[in-house]
Amino acid sequence: MIIELNNLEKININAFQNDLISWFKQEQRDLPWRQDRDPYKIWVSEIMLQQTRVDTVIPYFNRFIEWFPTIEDLAEADEDKVLKAWEGLGYYSRVRNLQSAVKEVNENYNGKVPSTPEEIAGLKGVGPYTAGAILSIAYGIPEPAVDGNVMRVLSRVLSIWEDIAKASSRKIFEKAVRELISHEDPSSFNQALMELGALICTPTSPSCLLCPVRDHCQAFEEGVQNELPIKTKKTKTRDVQLAAAILLDRNGKVLIHKRPSTGLLANLWEFPNVEIHHPLQNDREQITEQFHHSLNLNIKLERIIGQLEHVFSHLVWNIQVYSGTIEPVTSVGDEWKFVSLEEMKDFAFPVSYQKMLNLYLEHQKN
Ligand code: ADE
Repeated sequence: MIIELNNLEKININAFQNDLISWFKQEQRDLPWRQDRDPYKIWVSEIMLQQTRVDTVIPYFNRFIEWFPTIEDLAEADEDKVLKAWEGLGYYSRVRNLQSAVKEVNENYNGKVPSTPEEIAGLKGVGPYTAGAILSIAYGIPEPAVDGNVMRVLSRVLSIWEDIAKASSRKIFEKAVRELISHEDPSSFNQALMELGALICTPTSPSCLLCPVRDHCQAFEEGVQNELPIKTKKTKTRDVQLAAAILLDRNGKVLIHKRPSTGLLANLWEFPNVEIHHPLQNDREQITEQFHHSLNLNIKLERIIGQLEHVFSHLVWNIQVYSGTIEPVTSVGDEWKFVSLEEMKDFAFPVSYQKMLNLYLEHQKN
């Protein structure tokens, strides 16, 4: 594929790099993963920062590094504890892949994060963005690290009218970065693009008057900064109806279930639940029967305690929440446990089920 970037020649690359990097050195936020250049910490931060805001990531990052300070600590950690450290961040496959990849680094690379594009891109969960971020930030190698923020910034600077929602567009922006990146300081250059996207060149109403590279910006010159980037709408989400229950046994312990090891929210814990396929089933007796039929649980649903909605990228869960009781279960596999409220703190639950527990606790008070 031949990629044409017509506006590159209008840019004074040296001046652009200097203006961008000087601004970054003055204005960068003091973030915990910027304290040193440990490639492991950069890696963890970049995985967390995918799909998650900086403010949300900070406390998670600090705790994660406290719990697993080195590659070796994470490689040897119990997966349940690793998921617990990620609890609430979402997109849990990120952390499962991170741990697999860290195990590989521990075993095959002597515990040192590799520093070539080929080796690093071969690690599980490390795509072109993460590879470029680690190589440039930790190792000072001039590789592009193009995410949505960087595409937004460069679509404006170079007036690129490609749809950034299309997977094929990333290559265009990578090519632009290869042309523009500072070879003296690739780390600051890439971080500066990210920082500019976060602080100045924001999705709506960019602060062009404060922008350090305004004089280089084609979109600003043409007055089209608010029309860029071009980004088509996401695909529609699918609705799923669930009934879920907090079920107590005679000792007041609550039944929890470990989700399967593949698929959505793999290996996280949840309260027993069934999918309701037909609205007709939306009736307590039918649902009780379905718990019996699908999960082989002999339960009594007592009350509806609320309704929850949880939005994933492709899916919306509508959860009808019940409380109830359960008869002693004789043979349950390792994926089922009866736990006290105190013990529940050691298990990682998706946010939707944390909300469900809170609903239940609120309900108990009244
Ligand atoms: N977003 C993605 N990577 C980032 C980083 N290293 N610093 C700040 N924001 C980011």
